[in-house]
Amino acid sequence: MSNSPEKPVYGNGPAEIPQPAKVTVPRFRSAKGKRTLLCLTAYDSPTARLVDEAGFDLILVGDSMANVVLGHASTLKLSLDQIISATRAVKRAADRPLIVADMPFGTYHISIEDTLTNALRLIREGGAQAVKLEGGRNRAHLIRALVEADIPVMGHVGLLPQSINTEGGYRVQGKRVESARQVLADALAVEAAGAFAVVLEGIPAEVAQVVTEHLSIPTIGIGAGNGTDGQILVFHDVVGLSMGPAPKFVRRYANLANVIRNALGDLRADMLDKSFPSQNESYPLAEALPEGWDLDVETGLRREPEA
Ligand code: KIV
Repeated sequence: MSNSPEKPVYGNGPAEIPQPAKVTVPRFRSAKGKRTLLCLTAYDSPTARLVDEAGFDLILVGDSMANVVLGHASTLKLSLDQIISATRAVKRAADRPLIVADMPFGTYHISIEDTLTNALRLIREGGAQAVKLEGGRNRAHLIRALVEADIPVMGHVGLLPQSINTEGGYRVQGKRVESARQVLADALAVEAAGAFAVVLEGIPAEVAQVVTEHLSIPTIGIGAGNGTDGQILVFHDVVGLSMGPAPKFVRRYANLANVIRNALGDLRADMLDKSFPSQNESYPLAEALPEGWDLDVETGLRREPEA
């Protein structure tokens, strides 16, 4: 048998990690320049709980869920209902970090009214404290409308996964002077529209650093070097659960896919040789069964004694 039937203990727990106070939008915003802001994605309750216990400031229920959880090739097919359901699951398990829900492709592309309606659902039904949407100057009017409606917004500029069709792929931005200027102009527009923070994705570290210096709101980098106010990564990439090659900027801290492969191999072997389940993993009888159980084999009921 591969394993003792005793229940294993997973990990050492969060005992040594100081638990910061509940993170609100103003607290997150005012941390700029004081400490590194720690952000990660999560899409379900157990993950959200672990991210909370590990002391992260912000959980993004990202539309990357489409790729790493639902197996889509892009983020474009994720629906509002799917992200609301994931946000609820995250919120149920993690009340301390700031919970931000991504607005899926198509939910802020029709009109201001439609954008407000959809963002309100993420807040009211999902329980998010803020929403994130992709785009700079072209989305500033939407960010302004959301903020005026008391919906905090996190911006997202640089490489925009939802623009995969217009860009013809995932294209790093800001590599040349003109493109770097566009990224800065987008970030400034997002800030001016009232966003409380902005994700900088897929841009050179030097550009991210200059943008960070020009903004009074926190910049959260992903594939943008270490000069931003905070960092974010996709949970599945960090723990080795995303299949296929990870982007260059990902650092893997675990290989959970291999851990799970090994566990499933062991379970399979134990099921096949019947060492699982053991007697201890089954329920005991409260009294001895009579010989032949006194059962009528046709009805399954107790056999009446013959008269
Ligand atoms: O959806 C997501 O996970 C994101 C991060 C990459 C910032 O938008």
